[in-house]
Amino acid sequence: MSTQASDQTPGRCARLPCTIVTGATSGIGRELTLQLAGAGVPVIAIGRNRDALRALAAHSALVTTYAADLAEIDTLPALIARIVSDHPEVGCLINNAGIQSDLRLDDASCDAARIRHEVDVNLVAPMVLTHALLPHLQARRTSWIVNVTSGLGYAPKRTAAVYSATKAGLRLFTQALRVQMEAATVRVVEVVMPLVDTPMTAGRGSGKLSAARAAEQLIEGLLAARRDIRVGKARWLPWLQRWAPGVLARILQRG
Ligand SMILES: NC(=O)c1ccc[n+]([C@@H]2O[C@H](COP(=O)([O-])OP(=O)(O)OC[C@H]3O[C@@H](n4cnc5c(N)ncnc54)[C@H](OP(=O)(O)O)[C@@H]3O)[C@@H](O)[C@H]2O)c1
Repeated sequence: MSTQASDQTPGRCARLPCTIVTGATSGIGRELTLQLAGAGVPVIAIGRNRDALRALAAHSALVTTYAADLAEIDTLPALIARIVSDHPEVGCLINNAGIQSDLRLDDASCDAARIRHEVDVNLVAPMVLTHALLPHLQARRTSWIVNVTSGLGYAPKRTAAVYSATKAGLRLFTQALRVQMEAATVRVVEVVMPLVDTPMTAGRGSGKLSAARAAEQLIEGLLAARRDIRVGKARWLPWLQRWAPGVLARILQRG
């Protein structure tokens, strides 16, 4: 198991509390888990792939794993209750897990179950996990809810209508939660990812950012107390949306 060199030294990350990372078994979430644990931050890693979870736990004593299917929405409050009981020190939730299917609505392979599954994992699960953990987070001096979104939450990709809609939904949910938490000590953060080299993007796109660098920039943004973290080329999105929305739409439609 390898990760690129990172400057997440223990001293710099001392301000970050025990952190839940969903989608910790692959791609960006795996890198986040390794870098945070490498910097001395206890991580609670969630995913379905038990071999990958075992490998993460073997890599660092600071990683505790919970196997869970985030599409099983009704089980999520109990999962959070168990985590809080086992780790009362938990103070940060990174909603990173996600799936992207190539789903044309007029395709024979598209049905209600596939649509529902993608919406559940990408949008409903982060909302339910947030809701379940919020009372615990609000009782802390400082805490974080961090939602990982995408450029496709700004404008859609032709072949990923459902995914794009879930990421736009997660963007707005993040903004709404931020307004609700105005008077609270919970920091609500959106992390917009560009195209990152992970299993999700295997075989498509070029000029991808490495997952290690994406995770590093996310952690740097948290340490700098930024509430909008736009990783890599995602930093251009607000400018493009304002000044060249047609260009942005054309770029993202191709995906
Ligand atoms: N890669 C990109 O270019 C890119 C761009 C913009 C945004 N993002 C966002 O970044 C996040 C991470 O993506 P990635 O590229 O690192 O993807 P990835 O390598 O495909 O990893 C996805 C993770 O989500 C977990 N997951 C999927 N379905 C799950 C379920 N039902 N229950 C529990 N966990 C589930 C997987 O774990 P298990 O298989 O173990 O369940 C895996 O750890 C996603 O939210 C994605 O939308 C990625």
